[in-house]
Amino acid sequence: MSNNAFGIDLGTCNIKIYNRSDDSVMVEKNMIAIENKDTLFAYGDSAFEMYEKAPGNIHISYPLSNGVIADIRNMELLVKYFISNLSRSNFKAADYYIAVPTDVTGVEKRAFYDLIRDAGVKAKKIMVVEKAVADGLGLEIDVKNAQGVLIVNVGFDTTEISILSLGGIVLSRLIKVGGQKFDDAIRAAVRREFSLIIGGKTAENVKMALCDLEQEGKGAVVYGRDIVTGLPVERELPTNLIDDSLIEHFYTIIDNIKVILERTPPELAADIYRHGLYLTGGASTVNHLAELIQAGTGLKVNVSENPVTSVALGLSKIIKDDNYKSVAYSIEELTK
Ligand SMILES: Nc1ncnc2c1ncn2[C@@H]1O[C@H](COP(=O)(O)OP(=O)(O)OP(=O)(O)O)[C@@H](O)[C@H]1O
Ligand SMILES: [Mg+2]
Repeated sequence: MSNNAFGIDLGTCNIKIYNRSDDSVMVEKNMIAIENKDTLFAYGDSAFEMYEKAPGNIHISYPLSNGVIADIRNMELLVKYFISNLSRSNFKAADYYIAVPTDVTGVEKRAFYDLIRDAGVKAKKIMVVEKAVADGLGLEIDVKNAQGVLIVNVGFDTTEISILSLGGIVLSRLIKVGGQKFDDAIRAAVRREFSLIIGGKTAENVKMALCDLEQEGKGAVVYGRDIVTGLPVERELPTNLIDDSLIEHFYTIIDNIKVILERTPPELAADIYRHGLYLTGGASTVNHLAELIQAGTGLKVNVSENPVTSVALGLSKIIKDDNYKSVAYSIEELTK
């Protein structure tokens, strides 16, 4: 049997690709920089480096929006370049396993399949896996036998809340809250309270440093532009101000978890109560989120050891272990 297989988790912020040939997961920014409307200038992490700093003729964008493909042409280009890099420019026929969100339309789901088919990567077989199922496997849960597993994946544009049972999805809800909304809330609070405009990357760095800063009893030192004078300044922001700006979004997540729990059949709810919920996704590690979910739902919160790569690690299990192959399906089976 050929060894060639890739597992792809297309996130709005990060693309994660599991490569069977060296058993590794690549994580890069899902970003593309186009110069003068039609020339590829940079992609992945190097496009992100230029973000918010590039001149007007270089357009930098994320081809995904809210977890679904918004810009097919650029997404195809990105997949082709990433796979070409991983294959050392020598495309060999390979199997592709792609993770898709559950709570989207059939057309949006099919777009993930079409993307791989049309990206020019020599796909031998294209299989689809529901993201939450892959997440469960990546979190070391025996998803095929477990009855009642609640997984919350807090990403960049979206949070996916899903209940799994016996290898399938019982309920799933995709809400438009994630790391980017947290960054925006931080920027708005800093503008309001300090009359200071900070960039998106600065806000993201503050968000990621919050836990450590709070433990050390320090504020976050940022550089930005004073609204009144228009001049660049340095300021130290108290962490409690930042924490307060995020609370509203945390409650949106908690309220949506409760809605899902209310709709969960009682037998499954008992299992969820016993095991607690599983929290993953890059933005799930934001300061205080896990403890607020625990307080708000009364459930124990199991945090992921690999929040960014849990979906890709789940795909790697499906690719390596035939036992798990049955959780993947061909989208043609669905649309025939
Ligand atoms: N230590 C951290 N603390 C807080 N947030 C973090 C941390 N590390 C990463 N993040 C945030 O995680 C987000 C990216 O997570 P992830 O890669 O899971 O998203 P994605 O899969 O690209 O998005 P989506 O699932 O919404 O399509 C970013 O908003 C980033 O700022
Ligand atoms: Mg994601």
